[in-house]
Amino acid sequence: MDLETFFKTKGSPGYEKHLPIIEIGKGHRSGEPIVRVIVCKEGPHKMTEKHNVAYVELFGVKNGENPVALGRAAFNRKLTKPNVRFCVDTLDFDSLVAIAYCRTHGIWINEVEVPKK
Ligand SMILES: [Fe+2]
Repeated sequence: MDLETFFKTKGSPGYEKHLPIIEIGKGHRSGEPIVRVIVCKEGPHKMTEKHNVAYVELFGVKNGENPVALGRAAFNRKLTKPNVRFCVDTLDFDSLVAIAYCRTHGIWINEVEVPKK
């Protein structure tokens, strides 16, 4: 299996419902840097017994070095939607990469550059 089949990206069939969307912002009250990862911005991915998003992971990348694991969220399909926030100082990184695993449609990966201020 080639890795382009293993890791699905924007443009792969079904990406609209699976690509983890990464949003960089700040907490309303704290002003702390917040990274939000959502699987399907138009509406949460379905969370049925056989078809659900099991987890999301977030990595930071800097200077082309090995990625740094920043966090992982596993979802209870009956109680939780695949929409999670990580409190992380994004300025430490050049880009952020998120992975989402759908039990039916595989591993989806997305990357965003961190805006420099
Ligand atoms: Fe799916």
